[in-house]
Amino acid sequence: MTRKRILSGMQTTGRLHLGNWLGALKNWVTLQNDYDCYFFAADWHALSSNYETVGDLKGNLVDLGVNWLAAGLDPEKATLFVQSLIREHAVLHLYFSMITPLPWLERVPSYKEKMENIENRDLHTYGFLGYPVLQAADIVLYQADFVPVGIDQLPHLELTREIVRRFHDIYRTPVFTEPQGKLSAVPKLPGIDGRKMSKSYNNAIYLSDTADEVATKVKDIVTDAKRVRKTDPGEPNDCVAWKFHEVFSTADENAVTAQECRTAARGCVACKKQLSANILTSMGPLIEGRAYWEQRPNEVIDILMAGTDRARTVAAATLEKAEAALHFDVASLVKRG
Ligand code: TRP
Ligand code: SF4
Repeated sequence: MTRKRILSGMQTTGRLHLGNWLGALKNWVTLQNDYDCYFFAADWHALSSNYETVGDLKGNLVDLGVNWLAAGLDPEKATLFVQSLIREHAVLHLYFSMITPLPWLERVPSYKEKMENIENRDLHTYGFLGYPVLQAADIVLYQADFVPVGIDQLPHLELTREIVRRFHDIYRTPVFTEPQGKLSAVPKLPGIDGRKMSKSYNNAIYLSDTADEVATKVKDIVTDAKRVRKTDPGEPNDCVAWKFHEVFSTADENAVTAQECRTAARGCVACKKQLSANILTSMGPLIEGRAYWEQRPNEVIDILMAGTDRARTVAAATLEKAEAALHFDVASLVKRG
């Protein structure tokens, strides 16, 4: 029986945080056992909002690879590759850009939201608006059946499906698999200030943080504001640290914590000590894995290159079918000489 195919990507915009790990990466590691998985570094997508400051391309790529391997992605099970090394993504994006109505893009919620949140860069560019068109190309080049996504990415997936249908309508040839979103129950983790955990909000705990850095950030987590003194009773549901406890501490521990918080039997300092210990325990294997792979950047690159070669074969076959459907066969003229 052939396994269903899964595809997903991650931008190469620097360090990964606990939210990326719990929200996506851990899930990928599970999925690789049951699906034919393609996971890629979305470096062109990273460019759409960082076009002025590309930064350390190779360093960011290696760091992403280090995190992937440290978290347990296995190149024997999943195909790990680099988007910009497969030019087919750009070509299919171009064909899709011809048939995608602008209003479809303007109404994507993440477009407006990002536009409002990112202040120090001019994002009134075609590339930024066309982000989901490139994403559609990423997905369907591999004929993915499922794309593991968070709820916020569902509109992108719906757009992918609409582009596929429009392509099939216009060119009257079925070329692409219509992908489905695969929502999985991932624990919801806020940033230390209670907003969404995000690099741009400066509220994230990074996979590369040292034990001391983790402890310092945990100390800064916002707690129940009504609990001014240690003798004031607290309410876990009004405390951001509690949200972390729900993810990283056991149910037994949390029953005690809630009770001692509400009766002021425990202070926040002690409560957070337990929390940082538990976070570090969870991160332990990952921290060890990072230490291992960080020493072997060339191996990391070799793994990504081998995956890229495998992925390119699939992408090229799909693009060939798409161009046949378009009757855009200039390339064959050139081949004939
Ligand atoms: N938009 C995704 C993110 O920000 C990255 C991405 C690019 C992606 N192309 C994709 C995810 C295709 C899934 C499928 O994390
Ligand atoms: Fe939050 Fe713990 Fe303090 Fe209660 S004791 S307010 S749960 S940090």
